[in-house]
Amino acid sequence: MFNSLTPLPADPILGLLTAYREDPHPQKVDLGVGVYKDATGHTPILDCVKAAEQQRTDTETTKVYISPTGSAQFNQLMTELAFGQRHQALLADRIKTVSTPGGTGALRVAAEFIHHCKPNAVIWVSDPTWANHTALFEAAGLTVKTYPYYDYDSKSIKFEQMTAALKNIAKDDVVLLHACCHNPSGMDLTPAQWDEVIAITAEQGFTPLIDMAYQGFGDGIDEDAYGVRQMAAAVEELILCSSCSKNFGLYRERIGACSLMANDSVKANIALSVMLYVIRGIYSMPPAHGAALVETILDNTELRLQWQQELAVMRNRINSNRQMLVNKLLEKGVKQDFNFIARQKGMFSFLGINPSQVATLKKEHSIYMVDSSRISIAGISEGNVDYLAQSIASILR
Ligand code: LMR
Repeated sequence: MFNSLTPLPADPILGLLTAYREDPHPQKVDLGVGVYKDATGHTPILDCVKAAEQQRTDTETTKVYISPTGSAQFNQLMTELAFGQRHQALLADRIKTVSTPGGTGALRVAAEFIHHCKPNAVIWVSDPTWANHTALFEAAGLTVKTYPYYDYDSKSIKFEQMTAALKNIAKDDVVLLHACCHNPSGMDLTPAQWDEVIAITAEQGFTPLIDMAYQGFGDGIDEDAYGVRQMAAAVEELILCSSCSKNFGLYRERIGACSLMANDSVKANIALSVMLYVIRGIYSMPPAHGAALVETILDNTELRLQWQQELAVMRNRINSNRQMLVNKLLEKGVKQDFNFIARQKGMFSFLGINPSQVATLKKEHSIYMVDSSRISIAGISEGNVDYLAQSIASILR
C-alpha cells in the first residue's frame, strides 16, 4: 500500500520550525510559526500557568475519561470569556461549547459538523487566510472559496470588495471571519466595519464561523471579542472556534474550544448532539490537562488577574516590536514605507517582499519567514532587530 506514495512537502509554516532549529547560524532569526517570545527569544510558561499546574498536581484525584464535551467548567468559562458573562444568547441557553484539541481541533470539529449539516456547503475564507484553513476544510469535504480581504498595495482591507462579495453569498453557505489579529495580514476589521459585516450576515442568512485564535493579543480581551459578541446578538446561528495556545501560552497542551449558537435552547441541544457524534468519530474526547489549567486560572480571582497582566505584557511587547522594527528600518536607510507594520495588530504582518527575497533572507541571512513574507512579530527582539533590519535593507537595495 505504501509503495505508491510520493513524498509531500513539509507544512509551509510548521516546516520552518525544523529548518530553523537545525540552522547553526549564530544570528539566525525565527519569524516563522506564530509563537510568543520574550526579549531573549524564549517562549516562557506563564507564571499563572505554573501556579495552576501546581494546584492541579496537588488536588487531581483521577485520570478517568471525561466525555466528548470535555470539561463542563472549562466550557462555561471559555464561553463567558468569548461572549461576555451576560450575553443574551448565553442567558437564553442558546450557546453550547465543547473543549477541543487546540484551535485546529476546534476548526476541524466545526468543519465536520458543517459537512454533516450541509454536505454541499461552500465555506468562504478571506483572501488571504491562515494557510491551514483551506487544507483543513477541504479535508472535511467542504468546498472552499475566497472573498477579497487584504490589499497588498495599500496594506489595508479591500472593504468595499469584501462587502460586495458577502452580499452575494447564499444562505446555506458559511463565511469564515477572523475575530482579531488577522492571520496572516494583521489587518483587522474596525468596530464600524464589523457592524456592516454583521448587518450583511443577518440580511443574507449565511452562517458565520469565527476563528478567534488570538483573543487578548490585539487590543484587549473584551475589545478583541467585539465582532463575536455583536454577531451573536444579531444572527440566529453562529460557530466560534477559540484557542488557548497563544493567550495562555499552552501551545503543546492542545486546548481550545468550539461553540455553537442556535436560535433557541432546544435546537442548540440538538446541534450539540450532532457535534458530539462528530467528535466521537474523530478523537473521542479532548485532552484534559490544558483545560484544567485554564479553568483553574479563570475561576480564581488572583490567578485570573495575574493572567490578564501576563497577557498584557505579551500584547504590549508585540506592539512595541512592531514600532521597533519600523524605526530600525528607517535607521538603516530603507526608503520603502513600512509604517503599516506599526498600524497592524496581533502576531503577524506581511513584510511585502517577493518569494525570491524571502529565500535570500533565509539562505544568506538565516532569517526564517513564510514564503508569502508573513513575519511573526513576536520573533523580533532588542537583540536581533539590528541584524534583521540590516539584512532586510540589504535585499531591498
Ligand atoms: C501560525 O499560523 O503560525 C500558528 O497558528 C501556528 C500554526 O499551527 O500554523
